[in-house]
Amino acid sequence: MADPIDLAVVPVAGHGTRLLPATKSQPKEMLPVGRKPVVQYVVEELAQSGIQRLLFVTGASKTSIENHFDIDEGLVTYLRESGREDELQQLSFERRRMEYFYTRQRRQLGLGHAVLCAKPLVGRQSFVVALGDSIIGINAKSDIVQRMVEQFEKSKADIVVAFEEVPREEVVRYGIARPKGETGSSFELADLIEKPSVEEAPSQLAVAARYVFSPAIFDALERTEPGKGGEIQLTDAIRILLKEGAKGIGMCLGPEEPRFDIGNYESYFKSFVEFALADPDYGDALREHIRKLI
Ligand code: G1P
Repeated sequence: MADPIDLAVVPVAGHGTRLLPATKSQPKEMLPVGRKPVVQYVVEELAQSGIQRLLFVTGASKTSIENHFDIDEGLVTYLRESGREDELQQLSFERRRMEYFYTRQRRQLGLGHAVLCAKPLVGRQSFVVALGDSIIGINAKSDIVQRMVEQFEKSKADIVVAFEEVPREEVVRYGIARPKGETGSSFELADLIEKPSVEEAPSQLAVAARYVFSPAIFDALERTEPGKGGEIQLTDAIRILLKEGAKGIGMCLGPEEPRFDIGNYESYFKSFVEFALADPDYGDALREHIRKLI
């Protein structure tokens, strides 16, 4: 039997141009949503789902992500010596049982290319891909990745992709599924189309930033030509595999695990407000304040 999947690749190399000027010199994955940077929620969600090894595919001006997951002994000592236990508690994530690896995407050739940069480290094992700019569930309370891994193993799939239903006008922002037959909480994937027009979209099921792959994805990525935006798209590599008869399963996020997309200002603002409203200390005061404002 194959080893259990415990490795996730987290691409964080994109420029984040849709969030300029906030992302001019800091990664979009480090933008705060409530109290934590986006990427910390992603890591917390993966840890809950049994991931123990994490490979970030980073790029220029992303070093603050590496710093964030380092253990800052100086800060820990300072907080301990000054008796600031509550603040010290905020750093407990540094001690999580997780091994971090980093590689750089040296040229910005798209998401598919970023995943391909992980090949020398991943080798011939199956793995998870979690996009570093999307949080699943309020405060990352979701075990979708664990459910996807179980499904991957149970159904001997080559690809499992998480989906979320989006309003028709939003299909243009995402990879969109063409399901084979009926869709329930999971379904067989016939095809996947990257950012179709509203007319072309075969459904309103949008790729929700979490994937499980067999290593066959690397072979497909090596054969993937530049697609939408002139970039090597992960969606197109999945398409190649599906066309060649690979088994692809879609799994829908449940109502308790909405996806928070930090890739554009509209959904970033909405996400921030929702997380801030859920804050145990300041949520109620903020609710009052918003009521007064509107
Ligand atoms: C990427 C993928 C797209 C997916 C989206 C999810 O797009 O290419 O298929 O639906 O992430 O967030 P991007 O947001 O990088 O343009």
